[in-house]
This record gives sequence, C-alpha cells and structure tokens, in this order.
Amino acid sequence: MSENRQNDKQNVLVVGGGGREHAIVYALKKSVRVGKLYCIPGNAGIAAVAECHPEIKATEIEKIVQFVCAHEDIALTVVAPDDPLALGLVDRLESVGKRAFGPHANAAIIEASKVFSKNLMRKYSIPTAAYETFSSYEQAAEYVKTCPIPTVIKADGLALGKGVIIASTREEAQAGLKEIMLDKAFGSAGANVVIEEFLTGFEVSVLAFTDGKTILPMASSQDHKRALDGDKGLNTGGMGTFSPQNKYTPEMAERAMQTVFVPTIRALEKEGRTFKGVLYFGLMVSDTGDIKVLEYNARFGDPEAQVILPRLKNDILDVFDACIYGTLDKVTLNWDERAAVCVVAASGGYPLAYEKGKKITFGNLDSDVIVFHAGTAFCPDCGEIVTVGGRVLGVTALGATLSDAKQKAYENIKKISFDGMFYRKDICKDA
Ligand code: AMP
Ligand code: GLY
Repeated sequence: MSENRQNDKQNVLVVGGGGREHAIVYALKKSVRVGKLYCIPGNAGIAAVAECHPEIKATEIEKIVQFVCAHEDIALTVVAPDDPLALGLVDRLESVGKRAFGPHANAAIIEASKVFSKNLMRKYSIPTAAYETFSSYEQAAEYVKTCPIPTVIKADGLALGKGVIIASTREEAQAGLKEIMLDKAFGSAGANVVIEEFLTGFEVSVLAFTDGKTILPMASSQDHKRALDGDKGLNTGGMGTFSPQNKYTPEMAERAMQTVFVPTIRALEKEGRTFKGVLYFGLMVSDTGDIKVLEYNARFGDPEAQVILPRLKNDILDVFDACIYGTLDKVTLNWDERAAVCVVAASGGYPLAYEKGKKITFGNLDSDVIVFHAGTAFCPDCGEIVTVGGRVLGVTALGATLSDAKQKAYENIKKISFDGMFYRKDICKDA
C-alpha cells in the first residue's frame, strides 16, 4: 500500500507567499504522495522546499492559469489566500480542466463580504452579534448617534484583517465610520459597513475541512490580532497563535458543530454556494457559554495554520483530495497531542508603514523549532535573506503543554534579529 502511494506521486502548486503558505508547503512536504512543489509567489523560506515564482502575484489569476496549463506535471493547485479565492481562481482552473483545492468564488463570498455573511447567519438562525448594515454614510452616522457603545464597525470587503474598528466611545465610532466610508481607508471594501453588537468572552478559531456535505473541524487555536502586548495597538493579520485553545471544551465543540458548523455548510448548499475547502470560524464564547460567530474566513488562517498544520498527523494530500472528491466522510483527522505556540516577528511600524530590506540573522535555533517565513526574500546582491513584508517570520514550537511550547518559542525567537524587529511578549499568556 505505502509503495503504491509513493508511486502515485503528485506535483503540487501552492498559491500565496506568507507564513500560512509556508506551513501548507511544510505539511505537503511530509506527504509520501507529493512529488515536486511549486509556489506562486513564495518567499525565501518556501524556496528551500519548493520552486518559487516571485514574478507572478497571487492575484494575477490569468497568469497563474497560464502557468498551470504550461506545467502539465502539476496535478493540484492549492489556493491559500482570500483574494485569489474571491477572484475565482479555483473556478478558472477548473474551467480549463485543472484540479484545485479551495472554494469557488460564489462560496468564498462568505469571507469576501461581511454583509453577505451576516445576512446568511440571520436567514439561517446561526448565532452571531446583532447588527445593521449600511451603504449610506449619512444613515450609518445617524445610527451611531444612538447605538449601544462599545460598538464594532466592519468594512464589508477584504481588508487584510484590518477593516474592523472597535469603538469604545461615540466619537471613536464616528471617526471610524468616516475613515472607512468617506476617507476610504480600505478602498472599495468600505463602500458598505456592518455595525454590530460588541461581544465579550473568549475567542477561539476553529478551522474545518469540508467537502460541502461533511465538515471536519481541526484542532482549535487562538490568534492575537492586535499589534502590541495587552491587546493594545492596531489590528493586524495576527501576531501569534496557540493550539489548542483549552478553554474550548469538547462540550462546546459539540454545540458549535450543531449550532454553527453544520448549519453554515447546509445554508451555503441551500443558497447554491456549496463550499469545498477550509472554512474558518472565528467564535466568541461568552461567560455563560453562548457561542457566536465573529467572522468566517474561506481559507486557513494565518498564523493559525502555523500552529495547526504542525500538529496534523494525516497526510494532508489525502485530506485535500477528500474535500475535492466529496469523500470527507471517510476521513478521521489525527492530531499530535502536543501543544503548539507561534510567535510572529514583525517589521517596526507594522501594520502601518515599515522599512524593508533588513538583513535577518537567525542565530543557533533548536533543531525542532519551525521557522515559517512570511515577508522574506533572498537578496542576490548581499547573499542574505532580507525582510520584504510586515509580518516577517513565525516561530513555532511544540511542547507537552502550552506553557512548554510557549517557553521554547520565546527562547528561540530571541535568537533571531533584524533591524526594527518586534514581537508580542504575551502570546498564549492567559491559556
Ligand atoms: P474579524 O475580522 O471580524 O474577526 O474581527 C477582528 C477581531 O475584532 C476579532 O478577532 C475580535 O477580536 C474583534 N471583534 C470582531 N467582532 C467583534 C464583536 N462583535 N465583538 C467584540 N469583538 C469583536
Ligand atoms: N489570523 C486571522 C486570519 O487569518 O484571518
């Protein structure tokens, strides 16, 4: 059997170039069924295991389709980031007879439009924060004069995880609204807004594989979205993660399955938007145990993937295939019992403007620590790996407990340096 599996090696292309894509490539590399790996655009870390194509951007749909057609050896394309999914890359690849992992554009809208996802939850009674939607700035501004405070204002479209403003005063709410709708801080993503009830409790991210009928939740995790310690500073794509989120009990997981996960894939199916791929549920669990949806993503989270995929014991290609072929009911996910913690090293200034081109020194890292690259590139002129993005690296460590994993991640990130580097010191502090 294992020989047959190895004989059936497939070459795989991963689209994207961040820490999440490095984690996906890392998981694929462990598969006995995977042959050559390609990545568009990739980064300096991914380049160690995959042929990278930085000349193509993840959003250049037609160029990617041409690339796949020109490389007949590519058996599968894994589309990891939100924008190529929303732009219909999976649909385009399938239209030319190529296999792809990820939802079609009409299902990826569950992330690409918060107005869509909130209305879907309302229609199918999936628990979420109470909300109103607005396309007129004047009407939104009028509403904010009387709505409960704190309130949460969200740009409708994709905004790199930064389009959410939590306003603790009416003035902040007015300013946030102006920033999104009039100053267009997130471009056309802010043409419509959702204004919703502020929820309290603890957050948990549950990513799930689905073939549209069966949904298999992965190990739980939690992200830290604010830039600075103590959840201060601006929202970022995510500054660190840990898995499992041990406040999320098996009883809660069962309830989330019944009230959120299954109803969501059934709702999408009913709407003619069958979802295949990874569906990400951002949940808030209140003090009384109520579970509500904060957000959906149509993909692996980043840096959630950097703690979840190192714990996944299945051959990931088998799971991707089962999602595509509709055989996920035959799959059981197996997890490394150890906990994982990932701490992100970012460029000074991120998520606002930051400098690039800083040389990275890695130091003498423990051999079992995984450094996932995000905004890194090889500089041919200086012969070094340099920074090219806001989130630069994710340092992931596994340990018998969250506390062991955390200690190891921090001991190792300390050995890494580049000009302006910063990281949060309190990832996994309360777990
Ligand atoms: P989102 O991109 O919708 O997940 O929002 C980003 C972050 O903002 C979430 O991870 C939460 O920490 C916070 N957030 C979003 N919506 C709410 C809400 N209704 N109440 C409280 N916090 C929220
Ligand atoms: N870390 C949150 C996200 O990937 O959207």
